[in-house]
Amino acid sequence: MAKRVIVAMPGDGIGKAVLPESIRVLNAAGFEADYVHADIGWDFWCREGNALPQRTIDLLAKHRIGLFGAITSKPRDKAATELAPELQGKGFTYYSPIVTMRQLFDLNICIRPCISFKGNPLNFIRREGSSFAEPMVNAVIFRQNTECLYCGVEWTNPPPNVRAALETHPRMKPFKNVKGEDLAISLRIFTRGACQRIAQAAFEYARKFGYKSVTVCEKPNVVRETSGMMESEAKKVAMSFPGIALWSTNIDAQMMWLTKSPEDYGVVLSSNMFGDIASDGFAGLVGGLGFAASGNIGREVAVFEPTHGSAPKYEKLSPQIVNPIAMFLSAVMMLDHLGENDKAARIKSAIARVIEEGKVRTYDMLRLKGGPDVFKHGAATTQQMTDAVISKL
Ligand code: NAI
Ligand code: MG
Repeated sequence: MAKRVIVAMPGDGIGKAVLPESIRVLNAAGFEADYVHADIGWDFWCREGNALPQRTIDLLAKHRIGLFGAITSKPRDKAATELAPELQGKGFTYYSPIVTMRQLFDLNICIRPCISFKGNPLNFIRREGSSFAEPMVNAVIFRQNTECLYCGVEWTNPPPNVRAALETHPRMKPFKNVKGEDLAISLRIFTRGACQRIAQAAFEYARKFGYKSVTVCEKPNVVRETSGMMESEAKKVAMSFPGIALWSTNIDAQMMWLTKSPEDYGVVLSSNMFGDIASDGFAGLVGGLGFAASGNIGREVAVFEPTHGSAPKYEKLSPQIVNPIAMFLSAVMMLDHLGENDKAARIKSAIARVIEEGKVRTYDMLRLKGGPDVFKHGAATTQQMTDAVISKL
């Protein structure tokens, strides 16, 4: 069989630090692959006017599996000023390469596991009488990745035909006399196909990995059409999975349940905006950005990345201080996606042992303020964390 090719996109800032470390771990676990480097991120915007060059799109289309670090993103007007002088004023507009990648390859399922590791000093604890409980969280958020408020269909001062169309809805009455420039509208768009697809994926995942419940986390009592569609599609899909319970929570209540009983939840199914909120909420219980991995899954292409950004303030530090575990867990998800479940499990258990032993901890795990001084206070370097994980393989 031909060796698998992984498109490696380090991106910007700490993406460049953590991605190569994850390849060291993958190699040490015996995963056989070639890695082809692909350009993405701020430098390519500045130099070429495109943060996601066509050559990178071509590589993803060809090899279908991407491992991605992080990128730096800036608002459009700021982006315009950093463009190479010879490109300025030539009609280049900054678009987030991540959003573009999701749309181009229809990576419409985002999976974000939020799983506590025993001994992680950042684990959530709960007061119970005069002592504390440390509930082990094992939630996996399925976030719809391409629709909802992220479609970008929005206006301040909507054009007259849009306004006229909206005014056919009786609930627009209170806004009738609001001046155009004082009216901002962002559309929350759902399609039945996308709801159906993510619900199906969530239940299949629950079955594959032994979760007992899928919780639809929406707000169908208020946002009736869109959240209602997600909930009703989930109910239909649930009928084919008799062993798995379907629960329903509202996003606001879910945020409260996070600190009351996070251990109750298994797979959580949500739309783009609410899924973004829920996954950050759960991630905070299990260590935050240093531990938050994700997979963006389409029918043909899949891209795995930590949810953290490029943390530019740490970019220049040498040795590096950031926690590579979120990147390693993203690589683990890639292995699971490729059916390399044994290697995935080995890496995960190596990470678990390093965390439980507690001898090697990056600055975030020691609750230190990031900076070059963290080593004086016992923090491990990024590379030392990688070495520790590899030593357990
Ligand atoms: P960020 O995630 O880059 O960093 C926030 C803070 O979290 C950092 O200052 C650091 O203290 C901590 N942190 C992040 N990753 C860590 C790790 N692996 N280990 C230890 N600590 C870690 O978010 P921020 O500062 O809001 O954004 C920086 C840039 O990244 C921006 O340009 C933003 O647009 C971009 N961004 C990119 C994302 C992506 O590539 N998927 C996601 C989020 C932000
Ligand atoms: Mg990322």
